[in-house]
Amino acid sequence: MLEVNDLHAYYGKSHILQGVNLNIQEGEIVALLGRNGVGRSTTCKAIMGEVVPHGSVKFRGQEIAGKKAFEVANLGIGYVPENRDIFPGLTTRQNLILGLKPGQKDGAGRWAMQDMFDMFSNLSERADVEASVMSGGEQQMLTMCRTLMGDPDLVMIDEPTEGLSPQMVQKVATVLQEIAKRGVSTLLVEQKLSIALDIADRVYVMGHGQVVFEGTPLELKSREDVRKEWLEV
Ligand SMILES: Nc1ncnc2c1ncn2[C@@H]1O[C@H](COP(=O)(O)OP(=O)(O)OP(=O)(O)O)[C@@H](O)[C@H]1O
Ligand SMILES: [Mg+2]
Repeated sequence: MLEVNDLHAYYGKSHILQGVNLNIQEGEIVALLGRNGVGRSTTCKAIMGEVVPHGSVKFRGQEIAGKKAFEVANLGIGYVPENRDIFPGLTTRQNLILGLKPGQKDGAGRWAMQDMFDMFSNLSERADVEASVMSGGEQQMLTMCRTLMGDPDLVMIDEPTEGLSPQMVQKVATVLQEIAKRGVSTLLVEQKLSIALDIADRVYVMGHGQVVFEGTPLELKSREDVRKEWLEV
């Protein structure tokens, strides 16, 4: 479904991505792990066209490197960035509506606004409250739900559990599994090994702008050397 080949990206003169290769199949949850600053978010941004990608990014066989972010989104890739990217002056409901694609009606795709309220009662309770007054965790949920409203076929979710309470982390894990159940592919950027090992079908580990390990969660569990060198702090 998504095929990334020899992807490079730069910030000014800094060569951040140095030939990333990865792929995601239909309905898979793929985790992208790595320490701070190795280029996980930059990988998502380069796929999305928010950072200029050098190399090949194919979505359903079509080359998308060079397309603008809104074009990539309209083709069916959703991105949930790591910063809480809400519209603070708008209500929860209004934020969710803004996730719909141009011309898309609520409930026409896999997800309806009511699904979001069913999954996250916090959002339901705050449906008509300005998003700025919500907690960081709630804003994180809202960002994820807004992306789902656009009915992506592939969603890249950047550190959804960062700063969340254990109960909220569990909730996010359940939602990620629900996303997979509805046939949506997921690229899950994580720092927490546990959630990735629990729910991912496959795992990539990044180090210094490249993929340094690819395998199943079981294989990563057995590779203490990889975890020591590239994951543990
Ligand atoms: N806008 C930017 N301008 C310049 N350098 C940047 C910018 N964004 C990121 N970088 C640098 O690029 C490298 C990769 O950053 P990236 O955000 O992809 O890391 P990451 O793996 O997502 O880690 P984390 O989210 O924990 O910071 C880092 O060294 C970072 O300092
Ligand atoms: Mg990041």
